[in-house]
Amino acid sequence: MSTEQRYTKETITDIRYWVDNKLFSIKTTRSPEFQFKPGQFARLGLPEQENGEPTLWRGFSMVNPVDSTDLEFYAVVVPDGQFSPRLAALSIGDSLYIDKTPVGFLTLDNFPNGGKTLWLLATGTGLSAYLSIIHDATTWERFDQVVLCHGVRYINELSYQETIAQWKSQWGDRFIYLPLPTREPHAHYPQKRLTHLIEHDELAKLAGVDLNPATDCVMLCGNPDMLTEARKILSEKGFAAGRRGNIGNLAVEKYW
Ligand SMILES: Cc1cc2nc3c(=O)[nH]c(=O)nc-3n(C[C@H](O)[C@H](O)[C@H](O)COP(=O)(O)OP(=O)(O)OC[C@H]3O[C@@H](n4cnc5c(N)ncnc54)[C@H](O)[C@@H]3O)c2cc1C
Ligand SMILES: NC(=O)c1ccc[n+]([C@@H]2O[C@H](COP(=O)([O-])OP(=O)(O)OC[C@H]3O[C@@H](n4cnc5c(N)ncnc54)[C@H](OP(=O)(O)O)[C@@H]3O)[C@@H](O)[C@H]2O)c1
Repeated sequence: MSTEQRYTKETITDIRYWVDNKLFSIKTTRSPEFQFKPGQFARLGLPEQENGEPTLWRGFSMVNPVDSTDLEFYAVVVPDGQFSPRLAALSIGDSLYIDKTPVGFLTLDNFPNGGKTLWLLATGTGLSAYLSIIHDATTWERFDQVVLCHGVRYINELSYQETIAQWKSQWGDRFIYLPLPTREPHAHYPQKRLTHLIEHDELAKLAGVDLNPATDCVMLCGNPDMLTEARKILSEKGFAAGRRGNIGNLAVEKYW
């Protein structure tokens, strides 16, 4: 297959900055061929030379519902990074290349039988993958409740508040949202890391529901140190990824 056939050239239709020079969302046109499962990611491409072929490629989880006209991505600017500052410098109307094949295993395929509560644990832009999952009807068919926990450094990094408020009004008690800023006090939530809260059984108390390996499933996405630590703590509590055809109750995705 030639390089040309591997990707499509899309156009940026919207950009929203949540935190200047740090957090932004970008919308692009979508090729009708591009079909993905909630929780999957796309490989986005940019040229190093103006008007050149794309040579820099990075993964970004889809934020939008599977059936929306545009694609949407939520991103952080890594100041010394090769890709993210370039992505952040784009404007509406600019081109963005998207690999035709969506990838990733942080999907509900991990939990075909569903369960009582789906715990979606994110730090930083790990939130992205969960947004397309929460948008999806299958999630709500498979689980009685969804708990979204978002660990960030500062309160202004708690992006997508309007979407989250919409879900709260749509799903009521079935949707629980725990914003967890760690470097600034919050009026209603503790200034503690997700890992600390899980380890000390405080997360379930905060959510007001059990964290039970017999009935619940957990997804982890975000800072790799958080993933390593949370995975260990959760395994001590009875959560493990599926292996060799056995269905698990834990799914993890690494961003870096
Ligand atoms: C499966 C997958 C899905 C991803 N989805 C997203 C997404 O939805 N949104 C997003 O912003 N990034 C996402 N990433 C990360 C993204 O692909 C790039 O790594 C990121 O944009 C930085 O690229 P860079 O070239 O600027 O810096 P790089 O040279 O790639 O990274 C430099 C350093 O920046 C830090 N870093 C990288 N990504 C992040 C991040 N997301 N948050 C905090 N620190 C980071 C790490 O310390 C890393 O070593 C994903 C990565 C993978 C593998
Ligand atoms: N911060 C800035 O002002 C700024 C500005 C521009 C760009 N950036 C870029 O943004 C990136 C950082 O992004 P980010 O703030 O989303 O990511 P982050 O450093 O991973 O922090 C996000 C959340 O994860 C928590 N966390 C980190 N390690 C953890 C662990 N081992 N266990 C549990 N929780 C853990 C943090 O808690 P703690 O607060 O306790 O660490 C914070 O609540 C950097 O790469 C930097 O280049 C930062």
